Amino acid sequence: MCGIVGYIGNRKTEEILLDGLKELEYRGYDSAGIALLDNEKIDVFKALGKLKNLKEKVNTYHDYNIGIGHTRWATHGKPTELNAHPHLGEYSYVVHNGIIENYKEIKESLQEQGHKFVSQTDTEVIVHLFESFNNESNDAKEAFQRTIEKLEGAFSILLISKCDPSKIFFFKHGSPLIVARGNEEGEVLFASSDAPLIGLANDVVYLEDGVGGVASATSIEFFSDNYSWSTLPTSKQYAQKDGFRFFMEKEIYEQHDVVTDAMLGRLGENEITFDEFDASIIEGIEEIKICACGTSYHAGLTASYLFERLSQTRCSVEIASEFRYKEPLLSDKTLFIVISQSGETADTLEALKMATKAGLKSIALCNVDNSSMTRVANHTVLTRAGIEKGVASTKAFSTQTVVLWMMALYFGQYKQVLSNEKINDELHALREVPKSLIVDDKIHEKTKRLSKRYLHGHGFFFIGRDVFFPLALEGALKLKEISYLHAEGYPAGEMKHGPIALADPELFTIALMPQNLLYDKIKSNVEELSARDSTICSISPLDFELSDDFIKTQKTNHYMLEFFEMLVALQLLSMEISVRLGNDVDMPRNLAKSVTVE
Ligand code: G6P
Repeated sequence: MCGIVGYIGNRKTEEILLDGLKELEYRGYDSAGIALLDNEKIDVFKALGKLKNLKEKVNTYHDYNIGIGHTRWATHGKPTELNAHPHLGEYSYVVHNGIIENYKEIKESLQEQGHKFVSQTDTEVIVHLFESFNNESNDAKEAFQRTIEKLEGAFSILLISKCDPSKIFFFKHGSPLIVARGNEEGEVLFASSDAPLIGLANDVVYLEDGVGGVASATSIEFFSDNYSWSTLPTSKQYAQKDGFRFFMEKEIYEQHDVVTDAMLGRLGENEITFDEFDASIIEGIEEIKICACGTSYHAGLTASYLFERLSQTRCSVEIASEFRYKEPLLSDKTLFIVISQSGETADTLEALKMATKAGLKSIALCNVDNSSMTRVANHTVLTRAGIEKGVASTKAFSTQTVVLWMMALYFGQYKQVLSNEKINDELHALREVPKSLIVDDKIHEKTKRLSKRYLHGHGFFFIGRDVFFPLALEGALKLKEISYLHAEGYPAGEMKHGPIALADPELFTIALMPQNLLYDKIKSNVEELSARDSTICSISPLDFELSDDFIKTQKTNHYMLEFFEMLVALQLLSMEISVRLGNDVDMPRNLAKSVTVE
């Protein structure tokens, strides 16, 4: 959510910043902007919407050697050019990722002192506060430190100023920020994630909360000792579309590969092993609590069925933003698992901090190594999905689910609650998962054809039972995210307690009807809807005569294999509906890939 970059050095500053922002654009694309500085002047370019609009505007004939940039997901103030970062005072610019919670009171007091504000953002107070302190003391470093002390909330900041024009001031609190020494002499770079830095820098500091400093071409001064240098991976794994129309499509198609990676070294001949933590962690644990947001929450809900079933451990799942403020009763007999593709989602990160502070053992299941959650949790398990660029999450979900399934089995083995036959059946099914994620051309074609018929109506219900209920939630979320159509995921057996009142031919029911789990139960639920004239699209390996439309999946002998095959069908269906509606599949309106504000 919002991406920031900074550069000091002798290469073309605007190009480095724009390339860096391109890598971060998935974090927000309401607007983008850069500020460029040399000893004489500051120039700023801002544009509404995607980065390409900014690129068209940036035409410089000047050698700048310092710059900062920002790509925005609006929090305070509408997406307008005035609200776009960088924000300007009289002689300084700032870019910010996060939310300044006490901005109103700061703004009022600065306005009383005569400061003029032009935007509706919280960010603008930072630059005015800085200038107000700097005007008092004429010491930019002190003014920056005093500014930070006044701010409350989450804020990663880069600030440049004509009063000290060879430097970038930086601070991290809440939202991620990395500082790097560039590969060329006299280069310093900043970015919200490591993707913009790969290829340009080797030595980086992943800043901890509360750490800031000031950088020039020759030195990087940190305000505290709480930092350490590490090495950035050198392989530049920029995700490319590789011939696919969208990143989302590519990411759907690569699920069978990344899931294979996720199982590597973990799925053995006769057992599951994880190097990252020992199964004995479950010793004395009475409950597993999972916390996550969005699609990761759906992976957690799916896992709750698997943890109870396979490891016979009570499991509850909470939406991180709810968990944080419910004054939860935390017991050290609880194993706390957070799930997050990015490892940066603010609510999940804060929930994790609460749990570790309360002394709970914790595991972070993340896709991004070195992300904030991996640094807070006792143990990190990586999902190995590779860079996911589509804002609508696909391969992150399949890898999360398969890793959680393996974890459930790992604990089950340890607790000796499963027969050898059961363990073997599960291991066998796990080996088949990559196959069930291979996109079947016939199903893809079918979803393209079906997409024409589902563009109207008054809404969609995705229904399923057991693990197919979280899958229904995920199917509905995908459709909402990229097609902007109203969709709900619902437990099939619950439809008769209210939602069935909505049934008519313009209500589209997407029914998940697995052969291996509660088939007769879901069939009755779908019959009830059909009897009330809802239009039914069933996804199942078994023909169902009441379906108006039908996506036929393979016959298998494990419900989780059906789960993954249906997942692909749902992802494709939502993508094709979005394409048909002419929407931006990879960067849907109002969303951001990584939500680093609460
Ligand atoms: C955003 C994304 C979702 C994602 C959610 C949680 O809302 O658009 O796709 O599921 O954040 O993100 P995380 O990185 O914590 O999995």
